Amino acid sequence: MLFLGIDIGSSSTKVSVIDGQTGKSLGSAQYPDSELEILSPEPGFAEQHPDTWWDCTRQACARLFATKAFDPKQIEAIGISYQMHGLVLVDADQQVLRPAIIWCDSRAVPYGEEAFNGLGADYCFSHLLNSPGNFTAAKLRWVQQNQPELFSRIDKILLPGDYIALKLTGETTTTASGLSEGTLWDFPRQQVASDLLKHWNIDERFIATLVPGIGAQGEVSAAAAAELGIRPGVKVSYRAGDQPNNAFSLNVLENGEVAATAGTSAVIYGVTDQPAADRQSRVNTFLHITDTPEQPRNGVLVCVNGAGRCYSWLRQTLAAAGQTPSYALLNGLAEKVAIGSEGLIFHPFGNGAERIFQNRNPGAQLRNLDFNRHGLGHMVRAAQEGIVFSLNQGFDVLKSLGGSCDVVRVAKGNMFLSDVFARAFANTTEAAVEMFETDGAEGAARGAALGSGYYASAKEAFGGLTRVAVVEPEAEAVARYRDAYQQWVALLPV
Ligand code: XUL
Repeated sequence: MLFLGIDIGSSSTKVSVIDGQTGKSLGSAQYPDSELEILSPEPGFAEQHPDTWWDCTRQACARLFATKAFDPKQIEAIGISYQMHGLVLVDADQQVLRPAIIWCDSRAVPYGEEAFNGLGADYCFSHLLNSPGNFTAAKLRWVQQNQPELFSRIDKILLPGDYIALKLTGETTTTASGLSEGTLWDFPRQQVASDLLKHWNIDERFIATLVPGIGAQGEVSAAAAAELGIRPGVKVSYRAGDQPNNAFSLNVLENGEVAATAGTSAVIYGVTDQPAADRQSRVNTFLHITDTPEQPRNGVLVCVNGAGRCYSWLRQTLAAAGQTPSYALLNGLAEKVAIGSEGLIFHPFGNGAERIFQNRNPGAQLRNLDFNRHGLGHMVRAAQEGIVFSLNQGFDVLKSLGGSCDVVRVAKGNMFLSDVFARAFANTTEAAVEMFETDGAEGAARGAALGSGYYASAKEAFGGLTRVAVVEPEAEAVARYRDAYQQWVALLPV
Protein backbone atom coordinates (compact mmCIF):
# COMPACT_ATOMS: atom_id res chain seq x y z
CA MET A 1 0.00 0.00 0.00
CA LEU A 2 1.16 3.54 -0.77
CA PHE A 3 1.09 6.65 1.42
CA LEU A 4 1.40 10.29 0.40
CA GLY A 5 3.04 13.00 2.52
CA ILE A 6 2.49 16.70 1.79
CA ASP A 7 4.80 19.27 3.40
CA ILE A 8 3.57 22.87 3.14
CA GLY A 9 6.70 24.97 3.66
CA SER A 10 7.18 28.71 3.42
CA SER A 11 9.48 28.39 0.42
CA SER A 12 7.81 25.47 -1.42
CA THR A 13 5.55 22.44 -1.08
CA LYS A 14 7.17 19.01 -1.11
CA VAL A 15 5.37 15.73 -1.64
CA SER A 16 6.59 12.20 -1.20
CA VAL A 17 5.13 8.72 -1.59
CA ILE A 18 6.30 5.72 0.43
CA ASP A 19 5.66 2.05 -0.05
CA GLY A 20 4.30 0.85 3.30
CA GLN A 21 5.77 -2.62 2.90
CA THR A 22 9.40 -1.55 2.47
CA GLY A 23 9.06 1.77 4.29
CA LYS A 24 11.06 3.32 1.43
CA SER A 25 10.31 6.37 -0.68
CA LEU A 26 9.09 5.78 -4.22
CA GLY A 27 9.77 9.36 -5.17
CA SER A 28 9.29 12.96 -4.20
CA ALA A 29 8.77 16.30 -5.91
CA GLN A 30 8.52 19.92 -5.00
CA TYR A 31 6.84 23.02 -6.39
CA PRO A 32 7.90 25.70 -7.21
CA ASP A 33 11.63 25.39 -8.01
CA SER A 34 12.47 28.88 -6.84
CA GLU A 35 11.47 30.07 -3.36
CA LEU A 36 7.86 31.20 -2.87
CA GLU A 37 7.34 34.83 -2.11
CA ILE A 38 6.53 36.02 1.41
CA LEU A 39 4.37 39.14 0.97
CA SER A 40 5.18 42.02 3.27
CA PRO A 41 2.67 44.83 2.66
CA GLU A 42 4.00 46.68 5.72
CA PRO A 43 7.23 46.34 7.72
CA GLY A 44 6.96 43.36 10.06
CA PHE A 45 4.07 41.80 8.10
CA ALA A 46 4.48 38.38 6.46
CA GLU A 47 1.66 36.81 4.46
CA GLN A 48 1.04 34.07 1.93
CA HIS A 49 -2.23 33.19 0.27
CA PRO A 50 -3.58 29.75 1.30
CA ASP A 51 -4.66 29.15 -2.31
CA THR A 52 -0.99 29.33 -3.29
CA TRP A 53 -0.30 26.40 -0.93
CA TRP A 54 -3.08 24.36 -2.50
CA ASP A 55 -1.90 25.23 -5.98
CA CYS A 56 1.66 24.17 -5.04
CA THR A 57 0.27 20.92 -3.64
CA ARG A 58 -1.51 20.16 -6.91
CA GLN A 59 1.52 21.04 -9.01
CA ALA A 60 3.93 19.05 -6.83
CA CYS A 61 1.63 15.99 -6.96
CA ALA A 62 1.33 16.34 -10.76
CA ARG A 63 5.14 16.37 -11.03
CA LEU A 64 5.52 13.34 -8.78
CA PHE A 65 2.75 11.32 -10.42
CA ALA A 66 4.15 12.14 -13.89
CA THR A 67 7.25 10.07 -13.02
CA LYS A 68 5.01 6.96 -13.33
CA ALA A 69 7.11 5.30 -10.63
CA PHE A 70 3.86 4.04 -9.06
CA ASP A 71 0.11 4.15 -9.57
CA PRO A 72 -1.36 7.13 -7.63
CA LYS A 73 -4.66 5.22 -7.40
CA GLN A 74 -2.87 2.89 -4.95
CA ILE A 75 -2.47 5.71 -2.40
CA GLU A 76 -4.35 4.69 0.74
CA ALA A 77 -3.81 7.63 3.08
CA ILE A 78 -2.37 11.13 3.24
CA GLY A 79 -0.33 12.92 5.92
CA ILE A 80 0.16 16.69 6.15
CA SER A 81 3.08 18.70 7.54
CA TYR A 82 2.79 22.48 7.56
CA GLN A 83 4.43 25.78 8.50
CA MET A 84 3.33 26.47 12.07
CA HIS A 85 1.58 29.34 13.90
CA GLY A 86 -0.14 30.79 10.79
CA LEU A 87 -3.70 32.12 10.76
CA VAL A 88 -6.11 31.20 7.98
CA LEU A 89 -9.63 32.64 8.15
CA VAL A 90 -12.58 31.13 6.32
CA ASP A 91 -16.23 32.17 6.12
CA ALA A 92 -19.32 29.94 6.35
CA ASP A 93 -18.89 29.00 2.66
CA GLN A 94 -15.32 27.87 3.44
CA GLN A 95 -13.92 30.77 1.40
CA VAL A 96 -10.63 32.34 2.50
CA LEU A 97 -11.22 35.85 3.87
CA ARG A 98 -7.70 37.29 3.62
CA PRO A 99 -4.12 36.15 2.96
CA ALA A 100 -2.79 34.00 5.79
CA ILE A 101 -0.79 35.82 8.46
CA ILE A 102 2.17 33.47 8.68
CA TRP A 103 4.55 32.34 11.43
CA CYS A 104 7.22 35.05 10.91
CA ASP A 105 4.75 37.97 10.85
CA SER A 106 5.45 40.25 13.84
CA ARG A 107 2.35 42.45 13.95
CA ALA A 108 0.69 40.59 16.82
CA VAL A 109 3.49 40.98 19.38
CA PRO A 110 1.81 43.82 21.36
CA TYR A 111 -1.51 41.93 21.42
CA GLY A 112 0.16 38.82 22.86
CA GLU A 113 1.97 40.92 25.44
CA GLU A 114 -1.28 42.57 26.55
CA ALA A 115 -2.87 39.14 27.18
CA PHE A 116 0.27 37.93 28.96
CA ASN A 117 0.04 40.89 31.36
CA GLY A 118 -3.75 40.62 31.65
CA LEU A 119 -3.87 36.89 32.41
CA GLY A 120 -0.59 36.94 34.34
CA ALA A 121 2.68 35.06 33.90
CA ASP A 122 1.66 32.27 36.32
CA TYR A 123 -1.53 31.60 34.42
CA CYS A 124 0.14 31.67 30.99
CA PHE A 125 3.06 29.42 31.92
CA SER A 126 0.93 26.87 33.76
CA HIS A 127 -1.98 26.70 31.28
CA LEU A 128 -0.56 27.67 27.87
CA LEU A 129 3.10 26.79 28.69
CA ASN A 130 3.95 29.96 26.74
CA SER A 131 3.20 33.63 26.53
CA PRO A 132 0.56 34.20 23.79
CA GLY A 133 3.49 36.06 22.19
CA ASN A 134 3.12 36.33 18.45
CA PHE A 135 1.30 33.08 17.85
CA THR A 136 -1.97 32.29 16.05
CA ALA A 137 -4.30 33.48 18.83
CA ALA A 138 -2.57 36.88 19.06
CA LYS A 139 -2.81 37.18 15.26
CA LEU A 140 -6.56 36.62 15.51
CA ARG A 141 -6.77 39.37 18.12
CA TRP A 142 -5.00 41.69 15.66
CA VAL A 143 -7.68 40.95 13.05
CA GLN A 144 -10.46 41.55 15.59
CA GLN A 145 -8.98 44.93 16.51
CA ASN A 146 -7.86 46.08 13.07
CA GLN A 147 -10.22 44.50 10.55
CA PRO A 148 -13.55 44.29 12.46
CA GLU A 149 -15.74 43.96 9.36
CA LEU A 150 -13.69 41.05 8.08
CA PHE A 151 -13.59 39.58 11.61
CA SER A 152 -17.41 39.57 11.69
CA ARG A 153 -17.42 37.27 8.63
CA ILE A 154 -15.18 34.56 10.17
CA ASP A 155 -16.71 31.13 10.54
CA LYS A 156 -13.55 29.16 11.43
CA ILE A 157 -9.91 29.88 12.12
CA LEU A 158 -7.45 27.34 10.75
CA LEU A 159 -3.75 26.59 10.79
CA PRO A 160 -2.09 26.17 7.38
CA GLY A 161 -2.27 22.35 7.62
CA ASP A 162 -5.94 22.52 8.64
CA TYR A 163 -6.57 24.49 5.45
CA ILE A 164 -4.95 21.79 3.29
CA ALA A 165 -7.06 19.19 5.13
CA LEU A 166 -10.13 21.32 4.35
CA LYS A 167 -9.20 21.40 0.65
CA LEU A 168 -8.78 17.61 0.72
CA THR A 169 -11.84 16.64 2.73
CA GLY A 170 -14.25 19.60 2.57
CA GLU A 171 -14.32 19.67 6.41
CA THR A 172 -12.98 22.26 8.86
CA THR A 173 -10.94 20.32 11.44
CA THR A 174 -7.95 20.98 13.66
CA THR A 175 -5.75 19.10 16.15
CA ALA A 176 -4.76 19.61 19.80
CA SER A 177 -1.10 19.85 18.79
CA GLY A 178 -2.07 22.51 16.25
CA LEU A 179 -4.08 24.48 18.81
CA SER A 180 -1.15 24.32 21.25
CA GLU A 181 1.16 25.98 18.71
CA GLY A 182 -1.34 28.84 18.51
CA THR A 183 -1.52 29.15 22.35
CA LEU A 184 -5.10 27.98 21.95
CA TRP A 185 -4.67 24.85 24.10
CA ASP A 186 -5.02 24.66 27.87
CA PHE A 187 -2.49 21.95 28.82
CA PRO A 188 -3.65 20.96 32.33
CA ARG A 189 -7.33 21.03 31.37
CA GLN A 190 -6.69 19.36 28.00
CA GLN A 191 -9.18 21.55 26.21
CA VAL A 192 -9.39 24.71 24.13
CA ALA A 193 -7.82 27.71 25.96
CA SER A 194 -11.19 29.27 26.72
CA ASP A 195 -9.81 31.77 29.28
CA LEU A 196 -7.58 33.39 26.65
CA LEU A 197 -10.48 33.58 24.19
CA LYS A 198 -12.75 35.04 26.90
CA HIS A 199 -10.08 37.59 27.80
CA TRP A 200 -10.30 38.89 24.24
CA ASN A 201 -14.03 38.39 23.86
CA ILE A 202 -13.49 35.90 21.04
CA ASP A 203 -16.10 33.22 20.48
CA GLU A 204 -15.04 29.61 20.92
CA ARG A 205 -17.20 28.61 17.95
CA PHE A 206 -14.33 29.80 15.71
CA ILE A 207 -12.38 26.67 16.69
CA ALA A 208 -12.80 23.87 14.16
CA THR A 209 -13.74 20.28 15.06
CA LEU A 210 -10.93 18.47 16.91
CA VAL A 211 -9.49 15.37 15.25
CA PRO A 212 -6.49 13.27 16.36
CA GLY A 213 -3.09 14.31 14.95
CA ILE A 214 -2.38 10.65 14.19
CA GLY A 215 -5.66 8.92 13.27
CA ALA A 216 -8.87 9.42 11.28
CA GLN A 217 -9.27 13.05 10.18
CA GLY A 218 -11.55 12.70 7.17
CA GLU A 219 -11.64 11.36 3.62
CA VAL A 220 -10.64 12.91 0.31
CA SER A 221 -13.67 14.36 -1.51
CA ALA A 222 -14.51 13.53 -5.11
CA ALA A 223 -13.57 17.09 -6.16
CA ALA A 224 -10.13 17.00 -4.48
CA ALA A 225 -9.49 13.48 -5.78
CA ALA A 226 -10.17 14.64 -9.33
CA GLU A 227 -7.86 17.64 -8.87
CA LEU A 228 -4.99 15.50 -7.58
CA GLY A 229 -5.52 12.32 -9.62
CA ILE A 230 -6.07 10.00 -6.64
CA ARG A 231 -9.04 7.91 -5.49
CA PRO A 232 -11.95 9.61 -3.67
CA GLY A 233 -12.25 8.29 -0.11
CA VAL A 234 -8.48 8.17 0.55
CA LYS A 235 -7.97 8.70 4.29
CA VAL A 236 -6.37 11.82 5.75
CA SER A 237 -4.73 10.32 8.83
CA TYR A 238 -1.84 12.49 10.00
CA ARG A 239 -1.29 16.23 10.53
CA ALA A 240 1.55 18.02 12.32
CA GLY A 241 3.35 21.35 12.34
CA ASP A 242 6.63 21.16 10.45
CA GLN A 243 8.77 21.07 13.61
CA PRO A 244 6.96 18.26 15.46
CA ASN A 245 6.79 16.57 12.06
CA ASN A 246 10.54 16.93 11.53
CA ALA A 247 11.06 15.30 14.92
CA PHE A 248 8.55 12.57 14.08
CA SER A 249 10.23 12.00 10.68
CA LEU A 250 13.49 11.33 12.53
CA ASN A 251 11.88 8.97 15.04
CA VAL A 252 12.32 11.55 17.81
CA LEU A 253 9.36 10.55 19.92
CA GLU A 254 10.57 9.94 23.45
CA ASN A 255 11.67 11.95 26.46
CA GLY A 256 15.22 13.35 26.02
CA GLU A 257 15.43 12.83 22.24
CA VAL A 258 16.34 15.84 20.11
CA ALA A 259 15.89 16.83 16.46
CA ALA A 260 16.95 19.88 14.50
CA THR A 261 16.18 21.43 11.16
CA ALA A 262 17.45 24.40 9.20
CA GLY A 263 14.99 25.35 6.48
CA THR A 264 13.56 28.86 6.15
CA SER A 265 13.74 28.97 9.96
CA ALA A 266 16.13 26.88 12.07
CA VAL A 267 14.93 24.91 15.05
CA ILE A 268 16.28 22.60 17.74
CA TYR A 269 13.42 20.52 19.16
CA GLY A 270 13.62 18.38 22.31
CA VAL A 271 10.93 15.97 23.50
CA THR A 272 9.99 15.94 27.18
CA ASP A 273 7.28 14.29 29.26
CA GLN A 274 7.13 17.37 31.49
CA PRO A 275 4.94 20.49 31.18
CA ALA A 276 8.16 22.54 30.80
CA ALA A 277 7.93 26.29 30.26
CA ASP A 278 10.62 28.95 29.87
CA ARG A 279 9.49 31.87 32.00
CA GLN A 280 11.57 34.18 29.83
CA SER A 281 9.84 32.96 26.65
CA ARG A 282 13.10 32.33 24.75
CA VAL A 283 12.03 28.78 23.89
CA ASN A 284 8.49 27.42 23.48
CA THR A 285 6.62 24.30 24.45
CA PHE A 286 3.91 22.77 22.30
CA LEU A 287 2.16 19.38 22.31
CA HIS A 288 4.27 16.82 20.48
CA ILE A 289 2.50 14.81 17.85
CA THR A 290 2.84 11.60 19.87
CA ASP A 291 1.22 13.10 22.99
CA THR A 292 -1.58 11.11 24.61
CA PRO A 293 -3.36 11.75 27.93
CA GLU A 294 -1.70 8.58 29.31
CA GLN A 295 1.80 9.40 27.99
CA PRO A 296 2.28 13.17 27.84
CA ARG A 297 4.84 14.29 25.25
CA ASN A 298 5.73 17.92 24.71
CA GLY A 299 8.15 19.46 22.23
CA VAL A 300 10.38 22.26 23.53
CA LEU A 301 11.81 24.29 20.67
CA VAL A 302 14.33 27.03 19.99
CA CYS A 303 13.44 28.83 16.75
CA VAL A 304 15.54 31.29 14.76
CA ASN A 305 13.43 32.92 12.06
CA GLY A 306 16.39 34.23 10.05
CA ALA A 307 18.23 30.98 9.24
CA GLY A 308 17.69 29.66 5.69
CA ARG A 309 15.80 32.87 4.95
CA CYS A 310 19.07 34.75 5.54
CA TYR A 311 20.91 32.34 3.27
CA SER A 312 18.31 32.50 0.48
CA TRP A 313 18.26 36.31 0.78
CA LEU A 314 22.03 36.34 0.30
CA ARG A 315 21.70 34.15 -2.76
CA GLN A 316 18.86 36.19 -4.28
CA THR A 317 20.73 39.42 -3.62
CA LEU A 318 23.80 38.08 -5.38
CA ALA A 319 21.57 36.97 -8.25
CA ALA A 320 20.50 40.56 -8.82
CA ALA A 321 23.96 41.13 -10.30
CA GLY A 322 23.69 38.30 -12.81
CA GLN A 323 23.19 34.55 -12.55
CA THR A 324 21.80 32.98 -9.35
CA PRO A 325 24.64 31.11 -7.64
CA SER A 326 23.77 27.55 -6.60
CA TYR A 327 23.78 26.66 -2.91
CA ALA A 328 26.51 24.12 -3.70
CA LEU A 329 28.70 26.92 -5.06
CA LEU A 330 28.08 29.08 -1.99
CA ASN A 331 28.82 26.16 0.33
CA GLY A 332 32.08 25.55 -1.56
CA LEU A 333 33.12 29.18 -1.04
CA ALA A 334 32.37 28.96 2.69
CA GLU A 335 34.47 25.80 2.88
CA LYS A 336 37.60 27.75 1.86
CA VAL A 337 37.35 30.19 4.79
CA ALA A 338 38.64 29.34 8.29
CA ILE A 339 36.44 28.85 11.37
CA GLY A 340 35.31 32.27 12.63
CA SER A 341 35.20 33.83 9.12
CA GLU A 342 38.32 35.88 9.99
CA GLY A 343 36.36 38.01 12.41
CA LEU A 344 33.38 38.76 10.13
CA ILE A 345 30.16 38.48 12.09
CA PHE A 346 26.65 37.97 10.69
CA HIS A 347 23.58 38.34 12.92
CA PRO A 348 20.84 36.80 10.76
CA PHE A 349 17.78 38.45 12.33
CA GLY A 350 16.00 39.89 9.33
CA ASN A 351 12.84 37.77 9.29
CA GLY A 352 10.54 39.16 11.94
CA ALA A 353 10.44 39.17 15.74
CA GLU A 354 12.91 36.66 17.20
CA ARG A 355 11.68 34.55 20.10
CA ILE A 356 15.17 33.97 21.55
CA PHE A 357 15.13 37.75 22.14
CA GLN A 358 11.65 37.74 23.66
CA ASN A 359 10.05 38.81 20.38
CA ARG A 360 12.26 41.80 19.77
CA ASN A 361 13.16 42.42 16.16
CA PRO A 362 16.82 43.37 16.10
CA GLY A 363 17.27 43.23 12.31
CA ALA A 364 20.18 41.55 10.55
CA GLN A 365 23.66 42.98 10.59
CA LEU A 366 27.16 42.33 9.33
CA ARG A 367 29.87 43.44 11.76
CA ASN A 368 33.63 43.91 11.36
CA LEU A 369 33.49 43.90 7.56
CA ASP A 370 36.98 44.67 6.25
CA PHE A 371 37.09 45.30 2.47
CA ASN A 372 40.76 44.30 2.37
CA ARG A 373 40.25 40.91 4.02
CA HIS A 374 36.71 39.71 3.50
CA GLY A 375 35.10 38.42 0.33
CA LEU A 376 31.98 36.52 -0.61
CA GLY A 377 33.21 33.27 0.98
CA HIS A 378 33.58 35.03 4.34
CA MET A 379 30.09 36.46 4.06
CA VAL A 380 28.59 33.06 3.26
CA ARG A 381 30.49 31.34 6.04
CA ALA A 382 29.66 34.10 8.52
CA ALA A 383 25.97 33.67 7.62
CA GLN A 384 26.12 29.91 8.30
CA GLU A 385 28.04 30.37 11.54
CA GLY A 386 25.65 33.15 12.59
CA ILE A 387 22.65 30.84 12.17
CA VAL A 388 24.30 28.12 14.30
CA PHE A 389 25.32 30.66 16.96
CA SER A 390 21.76 32.02 17.09
CA LEU A 391 20.42 28.51 17.70
CA ASN A 392 23.01 28.00 20.39
CA GLN A 393 21.57 31.01 22.23
CA GLY A 394 18.47 28.98 23.01
CA PHE A 395 20.09 25.56 23.24
CA ASP A 396 21.16 25.90 26.89
CA VAL A 397 17.65 26.94 27.85
CA LEU A 398 16.29 23.94 26.00
CA LYS A 399 18.76 21.63 27.75
CA SER A 400 17.70 22.95 31.13
CA LEU A 401 14.05 22.19 30.26
CA GLY A 402 14.30 19.07 28.17
CA GLY A 403 17.20 17.00 29.51
CA SER A 404 20.57 16.10 28.02
CA CYS A 405 21.35 16.82 24.37
CA ASP A 406 24.38 14.75 23.39
CA VAL A 407 22.89 13.63 20.09
CA VAL A 408 20.81 15.67 17.67
CA ARG A 409 19.06 13.98 14.74
CA VAL A 410 18.64 15.84 11.47
CA ALA A 411 17.52 15.10 7.94
CA LYS A 412 20.22 15.52 5.33
CA GLY A 413 18.61 18.50 3.64
CA ASN A 414 18.43 22.29 3.51
CA MET A 415 21.35 23.87 5.39
CA PHE A 416 22.54 20.49 6.68
CA LEU A 417 23.59 19.79 3.08
CA SER A 418 26.49 22.14 3.82
CA ASP A 419 29.43 20.47 5.57
CA VAL A 420 30.43 23.82 7.04
CA PHE A 421 27.00 24.18 8.61
CA ALA A 422 26.86 20.62 9.96
CA ARG A 423 30.36 20.88 11.47
CA ALA A 424 29.70 24.34 12.89
CA PHE A 425 26.52 22.94 14.49
CA ALA A 426 28.25 19.88 16.04
CA ASN A 427 31.25 21.85 17.31
CA THR A 428 29.26 24.77 18.71
CA THR A 429 26.56 22.70 20.42
CA GLU A 430 29.04 19.91 21.28
CA ALA A 431 26.43 17.37 20.24
CA ALA A 432 26.91 14.60 17.70
CA VAL A 433 24.79 15.27 14.62
CA GLU A 434 23.19 12.10 13.25
CA MET A 435 22.02 12.56 9.66
CA PHE A 436 19.19 10.61 8.09
CA GLU A 437 18.08 10.21 4.51
CA THR A 438 14.57 11.57 4.87
CA ASP A 439 12.52 14.75 4.81
CA GLY A 440 9.31 16.21 6.19
CA ALA A 441 7.14 14.98 3.32
CA GLU A 442 8.41 11.40 3.76
CA GLY A 443 7.83 11.69 7.52
CA ALA A 444 4.25 12.83 6.90
CA ALA A 445 3.75 9.84 4.58
CA ARG A 446 4.97 7.51 7.37
CA GLY A 447 2.62 9.36 9.73
CA ALA A 448 -0.26 8.71 7.31
CA ALA A 449 0.54 4.98 7.32
CA LEU A 450 0.64 4.95 11.12
CA GLY A 451 -2.54 7.02 11.46
CA SER A 452 -4.46 4.83 9.01
CA GLY A 453 -3.58 1.73 11.05
CA TYR A 454 -1.31 0.21 8.38
CA TYR A 455 1.56 0.27 10.87
CA ALA A 456 0.65 -0.94 14.33
CA SER A 457 3.34 1.11 16.09
CA ALA A 458 5.78 3.97 15.52
CA LYS A 459 8.58 1.39 15.76
CA GLU A 460 7.22 -0.34 12.66
CA ALA A 461 6.79 2.99 10.87
CA PHE A 462 10.52 3.76 11.07
CA GLY A 463 11.82 0.44 9.76
CA GLY A 464 12.81 2.12 6.47
CA LEU A 465 14.63 5.09 8.00
CA THR A 466 18.35 5.14 7.13
CA ARG A 467 21.15 6.93 8.99
CA VAL A 468 23.68 8.16 6.45
CA ALA A 469 26.32 10.04 8.46
CA VAL A 470 27.37 11.18 11.92
CA VAL A 471 29.27 14.42 12.52
CA GLU A 472 31.05 14.29 15.88
CA PRO A 473 32.37 17.37 17.68
CA GLU A 474 36.19 17.60 17.55
CA ALA A 475 38.12 19.11 20.48
CA GLU A 476 40.24 21.55 18.49
CA ALA A 477 37.32 22.83 16.42
CA VAL A 478 35.13 23.06 19.56
CA ALA A 479 37.70 25.46 21.10
CA ARG A 480 37.87 27.60 17.96
CA TYR A 481 34.10 27.78 17.61
CA ARG A 482 33.83 28.71 21.29
CA ASP A 483 36.03 31.78 20.65
CA ALA A 484 34.12 32.72 17.52
CA TYR A 485 30.81 32.30 19.37
CA GLN A 486 31.93 34.59 22.19
CA GLN A 487 32.90 37.31 19.73
CA TRP A 488 29.57 36.90 17.97
CA VAL A 489 27.66 37.15 21.30
CA ALA A 490 29.65 40.22 22.37
CA LEU A 491 28.35 42.17 19.36
CA LEU A 492 24.70 41.09 19.62
CA PRO A 493 22.39 44.05 19.02
CA VAL A 494 20.11 43.13 21.96
C1 XUL B 1 8.47 27.00 14.71
C2 XUL B 1 8.36 28.06 13.68
C3 XUL B 1 8.92 27.84 12.33
C4 XUL B 1 7.82 27.53 11.37
C5 XUL B 1 8.40 27.42 9.96
O1 XUL B 1 7.99 27.38 15.95
O2 XUL B 1 7.81 29.10 13.90
O3 XUL B 1 9.87 26.84 12.36
O4 XUL B 1 7.17 26.36 11.72
O5 XUL B 1 7.56 26.85 9.08
